Amino acid sequence: MALVNENYLKLPESYLFSEIARRVKVYKEEHPEANIIRMGIGDVTLPLPKAVISALHDAVEEMGTKEGFRGYGPEQGYEFLRKTIVENEFKSKGINIKEDEIFVSDGAKSDTGNIGDILGKNNIIAVTDPVYPVYVDTNVMAGRAGELVEGKWSEMVYLPCTKENGFVPALPQSKVDVVYLCYPNNPTGTTLTREEMKVWVDWALKNDVLILFDAAYEAFISEDDVPHSIYEIEGADKCAIEFRSFSKTAGFTGLRCGYTVVPHAVTAKKENGERVELNRLWNRRQCTKFNGTAYIIQRAAEAVYSDEGKAQVREMLSYYMQNAKVMKAALEEAGYEVFGGINAPYLWMKTPAGYTSWEFFDKLLTELNIVGTPGVGFGPSGEGYFRLTAFGDKDQTVEAMERIKRGTL
Ligand code: MLT
Repeated sequence: MALVNENYLKLPESYLFSEIARRVKVYKEEHPEANIIRMGIGDVTLPLPKAVISALHDAVEEMGTKEGFRGYGPEQGYEFLRKTIVENEFKSKGINIKEDEIFVSDGAKSDTGNIGDILGKNNIIAVTDPVYPVYVDTNVMAGRAGELVEGKWSEMVYLPCTKENGFVPALPQSKVDVVYLCYPNNPTGTTLTREEMKVWVDWALKNDVLILFDAAYEAFISEDDVPHSIYEIEGADKCAIEFRSFSKTAGFTGLRCGYTVVPHAVTAKKENGERVELNRLWNRRQCTKFNGTAYIIQRAAEAVYSDEGKAQVREMLSYYMQNAKVMKAALEEAGYEVFGGINAPYLWMKTPAGYTSWEFFDKLLTELNIVGTPGVGFGPSGEGYFRLTAFGDKDQTVEAMERIKRGTL
């Protein structure tokens, strides 16, 4: 008799963005004429940069030749991409990360979700609240979260991030072994300054805590005092694993490519106190469960770093950030309190008085035909907030903001 992993049964029936898609589908079926503007899931809308397309074509042609064909690639990613990443993302910024500390993958969602495979079941996990649901759900699946009581998992530590604390989480007051940090933050679009991030790194080093740092949105940073990588902070290479993604940076949500940085100096303990390199364990996990990102996709990712690719990516990022600027101005004009949108493509707004975040979701959907994401879907401290993404088409974004300002369709 096969037994199920009962931890899965503890999870809400569907993943946040699947639930939103379901509700929108139901509404669309009932109102086929509705011109719905989607600002819910943070999915890009611009076509891939030309440099990426051209690299894809070349790689496809190569795969059709006897000499250029490639079967299984290295599980950690091809050397050409790992080298390019090290040069462009780290070495050029004075950060000492080596090629064998980079693991290319099919994206940060998989890696942030899978990293728990190499961590013991008894770790106490802390998350900022609100939070990208993958961190929480995957710990539920692994049996580390306890029971869901009034919107919170009993064995997880929640670090509220609200307008009252400027969306800067306070250090945990109880024992924690692992903490997930995501900056620029999804969903709030807010950031930590270099000084604020140093507090976390110093605390992690002092208390022997592992930081799982999601930097999927670093390319959107516009302010100088906001670090792009946690490794800009001294000592972070001893306590942090960093996740990066080409999804939002270069439009790869459909292509799938990201990478995880696991410095050799990052270790965790065995029950007997002996320390083990996490790089070794992640490598072992990937070699067993992952057969590498497709060659053509890795060539496409490499092209992001060509001169042409860099210029095209810059243009893409500024298109989305211009949307964010338009949104912030319009929402403020309409009287909403808005956060984020300066170093990240997400706008995090307070719902109007008297509306829960799901009620506001329904109101926007049914009265204005705009889809957003209810803040509470990201955690209990997200109640009373609402997220809109700046990844939409420019004209549709302007149209959505007009609808909001008018308060009608
Ligand atoms: C989001 O909307 O939060 C993200 O697009 C989801 C993701 O990156 O998986």
